[in-house]
Amino acid sequence: MDKVTENLLLNEEEIKSKKIVLESYPKRLIATLSTKCNSRCIMCEVVRKKWDMPQKTLDEIKQLLPYLQSVNWQGGEVLLLDNFYELFLESLKNKSLKQTIVSNGMLLNDKWIDALTDADIEFTISIDGLNKEIYEKIRYGSKYDVLLKNIKKLNEVRKRKNSKLRLKMHTVIMRSNYKDTDKFIDFANEYNFDIVYMMPIWGGQQIDENIYIGNNFDIMSELSDKINIAEKKARDYNIEFFHSIPIIKKDVRSDTTIINENNKNEQKDVDENKTEVDNIKENIVSETATESLFCYLPWQQLNIDPGGEVRPGCLCSKPVGNIETESILSIWNNEQMQEYRKRIINNPKNWCNNDCINNNIKMDLRKV
Ligand SMILES: C[S@@+](CC[C@H](N)C(=O)[O-])C[C@H]1O[C@@H](n2cnc3c(N)ncnc32)[C@H](O)[C@@H]1O
Ligand code: SF4
Repeated sequence: MDKVTENLLLNEEEIKSKKIVLESYPKRLIATLSTKCNSRCIMCEVVRKKWDMPQKTLDEIKQLLPYLQSVNWQGGEVLLLDNFYELFLESLKNKSLKQTIVSNGMLLNDKWIDALTDADIEFTISIDGLNKEIYEKIRYGSKYDVLLKNIKKLNEVRKRKNSKLRLKMHTVIMRSNYKDTDKFIDFANEYNFDIVYMMPIWGGQQIDENIYIGNNFDIMSELSDKINIAEKKARDYNIEFFHSIPIIKKDVRSDTTIINENNKNEQKDVDENKTEVDNIKENIVSETATESLFCYLPWQQLNIDPGGEVRPGCLCSKPVGNIETESILSIWNNEQMQEYRKRIINNPKNWCNNDCINNNIKMDLRKV
């Protein structure tokens, strides 16, 4: 049995028995390799601080690759990095490893198109505008005509080689583009995307673009309708569609609270007010814990953010460590990771992201 299958079986077993300290390794890794980028998107906080993943962590990742089911390479812009081409080819040697690359698509030259279309991977291009004006306003420094040219070229080679590459689109929904929410699916269909993932803007970088905070009922209501239309279009076009956009339930207008990950800080404050007894109670693994967990990520995944901070998933409110000071595998079973596992088994309130707890984030994004 190969290492990845062995690890998967052990991992399933450990989840079933609700183990807190795991012998299995993560099955999925989301790794930010650097914050270097050739664009300056208005909402992006990643590129504000210079950071490169230390070589020791890159070496740890190489050791971990044979055990992983999937890896997601993030930046900055990974196609800009000198060491990424070699890392990508090395990862391909692990036949059952699924690779996902997230890119702005600007640097898709012949060499990259050739390598990508030879591989059975998922290649994501982030697109937040459907015309030159909105695209270049949001993705400052990127060019709409280059984007279209590169996608067309990639698609020509995909078709010619009958490539297994799956093309995915990432779209951050914000004030400047929410009216086009469903039209992104038409674009995805026109340009042969297989998958679309839409997410809300987070962070304080562009506060006027953030429609998810404050009293924006009319906008959120319109956006909810557009998400429904997008879902229908995606079904008709046979495109896989995921989103983490908070949706309004129309019949509860008076009580509606728009919850998204911008409330991370709020949750932290509430948690700090908890008594020690509350904390101790939650740390004892309850025998009546539910059979199925509301989230599996702390048993399955590690996410390395820009700056080296690690979380089980990108929506998780609390970090579990930093690769600058700890190894990946010591973080995997450290106290904070154990805490996530215990809280999920017992009571994730005031710990995990409210959108996950309230099921506003689809289960697909909480299970690998
Ligand atoms: C940081 S980028 C790195 C990869 C690549 N440079 C790109 O643009 O796709 C990863 C993803 O995060 C998204 N992103 C950037 N800033 C964001 C924000 N403030 N809120 C939500 N998503 C954001 C990008 O649109 C992109 O899909
Ligand atoms: S291209 Fe990606 S990493 Fe670069 S600024 Fe835009 S979102 Fe950030």
